[in-house]
Amino acid sequence: MEIAEHMRFENLPEQAQGCRRCALGETRRSLVFGEGNLQAQIMLVGEAPGEKEDVSGRPFVGPAGRMLNKILEETGLRREDIYITGVVKCRPPGNRLPKKDEVEACVPFLHEQIRSLQPKIIVCLGSLAAKTLIDPKLKISEARGQWVVKDGAKFMPTYHPASVFHDREKLDAIREDFLKVREALE
Ligand code: URA
Repeated sequence: MEIAEHMRFENLPEQAQGCRRCALGETRRSLVFGEGNLQAQIMLVGEAPGEKEDVSGRPFVGPAGRMLNKILEETGLRREDIYITGVVKCRPPGNRLPKKDEVEACVPFLHEQIRSLQPKIIVCLGSLAAKTLIDPKLKISEARGQWVVKDGAKFMPTYHPASVFHDREKLDAIREDFLKVREALE
């Protein structure tokens, strides 16, 4: 599905607000388009908004966001230098995984964000982002921490910050992967 010419990046966040491309448009409170530095060299791509994001309209402001902030701080990266978004812009009810048709309906926005911002590095936070942007067959436990160069950008797949709540060992892995990102910028 192509985004029409008149829906270029500057207008997209506003125009997306009324989106009804999928059923999530009926249950969401906010469409969480993304936020951050429009000159960012790094883009972080998560999965979909959770409850706090749905209420505030901002990405990664709930528990997963606090975990992300901690990881950024510990690895010497600044949230204000980065652009943050997700594969799916509206909250799936009960925080279930987005369905295939919801991803397909929403992903043109993400492709347009990447095309417009042209980040050097795209960090895929979790399996959905990595499968969507790198390879649908990818296994995050095998792919994490390894650079993939594709379409003029460097992709770093890593675990989703929320995965740390179920498995503390993932924190070390995510930190390691973010350190590679910082090194690549230097
Ligand atoms: N998880 C995500 O993937 N994105 C958010 O914005 C919040 C939690």
